[in-house]
Amino acid sequence: MLASAIIPAAGSGKRFGEKKQLKELNGRPLIHYTLIPFLESPAINDIIIAAQKKDFAKIASVVDSISTEKKVKIIEGGDTRQSSIYNALAQTNSNIDYICVHDAARPFVSKELIEKLINELKSCNAVTVGHKSSDTLKECSDGVVTRTIDRKKIWQVQTPQAFAKEVVMNAYELAKKQNIFATDDSSLAEKAGYQVKIINDSSINFKITTQEDWIMAEALLRLKKNV
Ligand code: CTP
Ligand code: MG
Repeated sequence: MLASAIIPAAGSGKRFGEKKQLKELNGRPLIHYTLIPFLESPAINDIIIAAQKKDFAKIASVVDSISTEKKVKIIEGGDTRQSSIYNALAQTNSNIDYICVHDAARPFVSKELIEKLINELKSCNAVTVGHKSSDTLKECSDGVVTRTIDRKKIWQVQTPQAFAKEVVMNAYELAKKQNIFATDDSSLAEKAGYQVKIINDSSINFKITTQEDWIMAEALLRLKKNV
């Protein structure tokens, strides 16, 4: 079975205050860290990166700086994460069985996690990684708590998310037809009627969204280097 990875990397980093995917994090562009496990994992056949056209050359030079035999395609993203992935899906090879989507802005993904998800596709056709919320959760309105949510049933979801190719293709086509918008891929699969499996993973895999996340990522990478 062959799997392609799709890495959406065409964002503008509004909440971060600048574009983050090519910014140097402890000496390497952020996307470098994200790409390494996908380039190294034998579970991944090829990689499609959705980027802004003006970043193509820089992204290509990051890929070139990592010695790899793997085919990496850089394609033009869209105005939203969803449209970037839609564009990437259109560029997948016809012989591919599985698609694994992972945010460029999550540099702590591991080979093990990617392989765990791809392996799950032997027994399901859509799977996401997540973990239970450790904070107490409240529903609020106008600054007032309206109810406390039973956190036993609430999961926080990240990427990677992996799918049988047909599932993610159908989900994205339906979303386009019906003007459905979501911030992750599994929501679109759910809305298209597919069952999405969730696997628990509590490894560090946060998305760099704000400057505070960047500081945390720098500190973690420094610690890793010193271990
Ligand atoms: N992304 C994308 N195309 C877009 C928007 C986002 O490929 N039009 C990618 C980002 O590059 C990132 C991932 O989707 O790797 C998750 O997005 P997010 O953290 O929201 O990044 P940005 O969209 O860049 O940040 P912001 O929402 O703060 O502008
Ligand atoms: Mg965004």
